[in-house]
Amino acid sequence: MNSPGMTSARTKPAPLNKKDTRETPDLSVEIAGYRFKNPIWTASGTCGYGEELDTVFDLNRLGAIVTKSITRQPRPGHPPPRCSEESGGMLNAIGLANVGVDNYIAEKLSFLDGYRIGVIVNVAGFSFQEYIEVCSMLADCPRADMIELNISCPNISSGGIEFGDNAKEVERVVSAVKKVFPRPIIPKLSPNVTDIAEIARGAEAGGADAISLINTLIGMTVNIETRRPTLSNNRGGLSGPAIKPIALSMVNRVYESVRVPVIGIGGAMNCRDVIEFMLCGASAVQLGTALFLQPDLPVIVERELKKYLKKQKLDTVTELIGKLEKY
Ligand SMILES: Cc1cc2nc3c(=O)[nH]c(=O)nc-3n(C[C@H](O)[C@H](O)[C@H](O)COP(=O)(O)O)c2cc1C
Repeated sequence: MNSPGMTSARTKPAPLNKKDTRETPDLSVEIAGYRFKNPIWTASGTCGYGEELDTVFDLNRLGAIVTKSITRQPRPGHPPPRCSEESGGMLNAIGLANVGVDNYIAEKLSFLDGYRIGVIVNVAGFSFQEYIEVCSMLADCPRADMIELNISCPNISSGGIEFGDNAKEVERVVSAVKKVFPRPIIPKLSPNVTDIAEIARGAEAGGADAISLINTLIGMTVNIETRRPTLSNNRGGLSGPAIKPIALSMVNRVYESVRVPVIGIGGAMNCRDVIEFMLCGASAVQLGTALFLQPDLPVIVERELKKYLKKQKLDTVTELIGKLEKY
């Protein structure tokens, strides 16, 4: 094990049917050769680097924390207004505000040392070089168990087209970071594409160890008094319950198109939603916008998930993954 704090939360995969040492029902899931104590993760950008959330509940209750996107240099992000509440969700254009990888490693990452949870560092970049530099710096930080690659960023050298728009580019960036980071890489797919399955296959071809989806959907709202867009960036990303049906459909499509595990994200607001994602093929589910409404939701979902499994007479949560019965 790389991280001293992780030995009991994340051990090499044990046989899934070995029930003697595990609690029943067993919530643990195996992803990319690591075992997480449950499938309940946080979504990038909705809980910073973990400190604030830890004041609400013990972070040890999570399967994993996914950090805010980290870039090579610190970024102040877009000026306000950068968030707006909408019916069925929220629109945000934070602009990847973050402390930059040097400060992250020096000041933020060690906060998670004592926690027995998976630490997934989300990395963003505006060039291949930036992704490679940030990931190789994190390679030397054993507490960064995995990297989630935010590929919903404009590639400056291709005139601003997002990396995640093109399967070949996705394959190229994933295989490049795989060479510099020795632990699992999870590309996070953008839903703003024509064929999500093609992009997922590109990620898998590049060597992705798992795939997470979805990031936010591009959207816009208008203030009719000022006649200006609601957000200073004009456009933003829509998240929350409004996007859940899209996320479920895409998760299921990707689950059926690749062999690597899929992590579901998008509008999960309660335990029922988490179960829906798992039935559609997700091995774990990230809670994002929901945390702004109910920061202790992960603890509630954990409790309700156990109840549901007991009621369904299931011993392990893995029995839900991909068990959707389609017409
Ligand atoms: C305020 C806010 C900030 C976000 N920042 C990031 C980010 O830095 N990197 C990233 O990959 N996704 C970011 N996301 C997207 C979420 O991680 C998630 O993919 C999306 O919100 C959909 O899930 P949800 O509906 O459960 O929130 C952000 C979302 C919100 C609402």
